[in-house]
Amino acid sequence: MTVLIRGGTVVNADRAFRADVLCAGDKIVAVGDNLEAPPHATIVDAGGQYVMPGGIDTHTHMQLPFMGTVAADDFYTGTAAGLAGGTTTIMDFVIPDPRQRLLDAFHTWRGWAAKSAADYTFHVAVTWWDDSVHEDMGTLVREHGVNSFKHFMAYKNAIMADDETLIKSFRRALELGAIPTVHAENGELVYQLQRELLARGVRGPEAHPLSRPPEVEAEAANRAIAIAAVLGTPLYIVHVSCAESLDAIARARARGQRVYGEALAGHLVIDDSVYRNPDPAYARAHVMSPPFRSPQHQAALWQGLRGGNLHTTATDHCTFCAAQKAAGADAQGQEDFTRIPNGCGGVEERMMVVWDAGVNSGALSPCEFVAVTSANAARIFNIYPRKGLVAAGCDADLVVWDPLATRTLSAATQFSKGDVNVFEGRTVRGVPTHTLAAGKLVYVNGDLRAEQGAGRYVARPAFTGADAGGAAGAAGMHGAPATMAAIP
Ligand code: URP
Ligand code: ZN
Ligand code: ZN
Ligand code: ZN
Repeated sequence: MTVLIRGGTVVNADRAFRADVLCAGDKIVAVGDNLEAPPHATIVDAGGQYVMPGGIDTHTHMQLPFMGTVAADDFYTGTAAGLAGGTTTIMDFVIPDPRQRLLDAFHTWRGWAAKSAADYTFHVAVTWWDDSVHEDMGTLVREHGVNSFKHFMAYKNAIMADDETLIKSFRRALELGAIPTVHAENGELVYQLQRELLARGVRGPEAHPLSRPPEVEAEAANRAIAIAAVLGTPLYIVHVSCAESLDAIARARARGQRVYGEALAGHLVIDDSVYRNPDPAYARAHVMSPPFRSPQHQAALWQGLRGGNLHTTATDHCTFCAAQKAAGADAQGQEDFTRIPNGCGGVEERMMVVWDAGVNSGALSPCEFVAVTSANAARIFNIYPRKGLVAAGCDADLVVWDPLATRTLSAATQFSKGDVNVFEGRTVRGVPTHTLAAGKLVYVNGDLRAEQGAGRYVARPAFTGADAGGAAGAAGMHGAPATMAAIP
């Protein structure tokens, strides 16, 4: 397929300029003025619109088996929904059960993901430790294109990594040129607070945020940062939701530590009043970890994105329908909030929500929008400039963006599966009109043409001395000096 996108303004993280974009096969082949249309090319008129790199969602959980159920969106429906929102690559998570070989889990997830409509890649979680984990981490980096390992510091009695696991895994990641990432919450503290709340009869979804106050997150963020500092590893903290964690990142960065932070679209725009809604189904629909926070925390996250202490935006897309969320109540109506499957959606809405709340408000420029929706992710996880840039030679993953068009987000009209939308009723200005994935027009003005199995696995090379300019370059250099040209 040959596609010529004509008359738009190309927006990259570093600059915006008027140019046509020509795509042939799965690559961008030319970016420039008045490009000539090859015979049989499909022409997209982008007049008055922006042409940006397709979004990279650094954090999704398609069809995740979790808390006794399985997330509703599978790799096909979830990636297709992403394409409808301008996201062309997802970074999902392989999460082995404790004692399960990492390689076995990796192959299971690869099988599930074969039906993806968009490109995908995996962080692999280290949920336990022994010599086989050490060995499998090496195989994953060297033979399977994995350069990031995830550690859940929460979810005690399930997938929580203890300090021994964190330290051994961070050290191993450094040795391999991979970047450790953490879900930062003190799982023991969460567990104890949950038990106390249940014992006091505070059992409904309103108890969820009370069991996970900002200090719970900040303690774990500070601990992970301290471990990374001692071992000399870079660190990426997923779903930073509160000012206290952000402060920990800012302090570490001011000391010269390579710490990167991710903000979720939901945490940026939804506040904790959702847990006090009198409708328990509504409140349960918003149960995710870390929980939604007060508006002061939201303001801090926007400052972090603009000020450079937060680098990526993601969604933690992990959808459960109302019936699954109802696991929090038994037949007699007795609630136990600790049983509500944790997770919310957003892969379809992220770009629109971040544009509407970020760019329209002046909090972010269009170039900064590209930085936090694709370019920084590509740099941190070593797939730049294949992804995250509009230039000849890059993947033809593009979104054509109408800054004036509006859309009202709703479960009734979403492509994502399920009956819940945490952005329900929000009208956004700035929406994708066309999405190109690997050079194919997969979304055109409401017409989703996602193709099951068209997505490709994206292997991500380890960081070595030669790519020290990459964000996490020091990982492969054992702490030797590295230039930081890649990250603003
Ligand atoms: O509540 C959440 N975030 N569910 C998905 C798993 C995780 O913690 O990322
Ligand atoms: Zn070793
Ligand atoms: Zn998490
Ligand atoms: Zn997650």
